[in-house]
Amino acid sequence: MQTPAHLLGIEDLTLEQIQRLLDRAARFQQEAPPKTLAGKRLLLLFYEPSTRTRTSFEVAARRLGAETVSVSASASSIEKGESLLDTVYTLQAMVIHGIVMRHYASGAPTLVSRHVDVPVVNAGDGMHEHPTQALLDGFTILRHKGRFDGLKVAIVGDILHSRVARSNLLLLSRLGAEVRLCGPRTLLPQTFVSYGPRVHVTHDIEEALDGADVVMVLRIQMERMQESFFPSEAEYVSLYSVTPERLQLAHPKAIVMHPGPMIRGVEISADVADSPQSVIREQVENGVLIRMAALHELLGGEQ
Ligand code: CP
Repeated sequence: MQTPAHLLGIEDLTLEQIQRLLDRAARFQQEAPPKTLAGKRLLLLFYEPSTRTRTSFEVAARRLGAETVSVSASASSIEKGESLLDTVYTLQAMVIHGIVMRHYASGAPTLVSRHVDVPVVNAGDGMHEHPTQALLDGFTILRHKGRFDGLKVAIVGDILHSRVARSNLLLLSRLGAEVRLCGPRTLLPQTFVSYGPRVHVTHDIEEALDGADVVMVLRIQMERMQESFFPSEAEYVSLYSVTPERLQLAHPKAIVMHPGPMIRGVEISADVADSPQSVIREQVENGVLIRMAALHELLGGEQ
């Protein structure tokens, strides 16, 4: 099986490559990881804010023995107008062996991957993909449910602006889950059904949650909105917030997920976020394992 040169999106991975990453993360959970990245330097290039993704890539790289260099747009010469490629060429001249990159423009990591001779990992690009988030979500689901086939996964919130939703629906539907997307019409166009027969669109949260095995809640991405997509926050909460009452519609053993950052009292109530069904902090823990698996495969693993 071919190891991918880059990790740019779930859409580029074969099922075998996905399985291998999930298996590798499971192995890293059981055993102390080997220092397969010793002597390597990883660039973390972030054009958008991040808490979880950036930190977990840093922790993952260091656990595998790599050195990390962090550059964020707000504290670099990017602020002075330096172009994306000039920034990358400059940093590459200091000898780097891989790039983890977040950018507000969809496709930016793909562009960079065509101009460098080191692996590029997409840590979230615009409204396109966030592949390691979907992989860590899949890993977490597998840990709790033991399978994907026939699993009912409800993804509720701002689907339109969410790279997490896109990567997850690509991953989970290919692995055999039924994905129910739910949100207001303005944040969930009917065109999402084109992702395949296992992807369903509904604007009714009760329909989405009915018997769901997994409830994945997404934040409203105000930072990507130039206009108003719903009348008021109160109206959104009344129609789409995942509350304890609504969660009762799901399977009694349903798990609740959120990629973070979450806004308590808006898309999810605090009671649900802190309930025994919530695996939100476990997602963060699993993020380190998945990112170790990805870095090991791309930079240090067997070819
Ligand atoms: N889930 C996620 O991407 O979180 P951060 O924006 O904090 O990295």
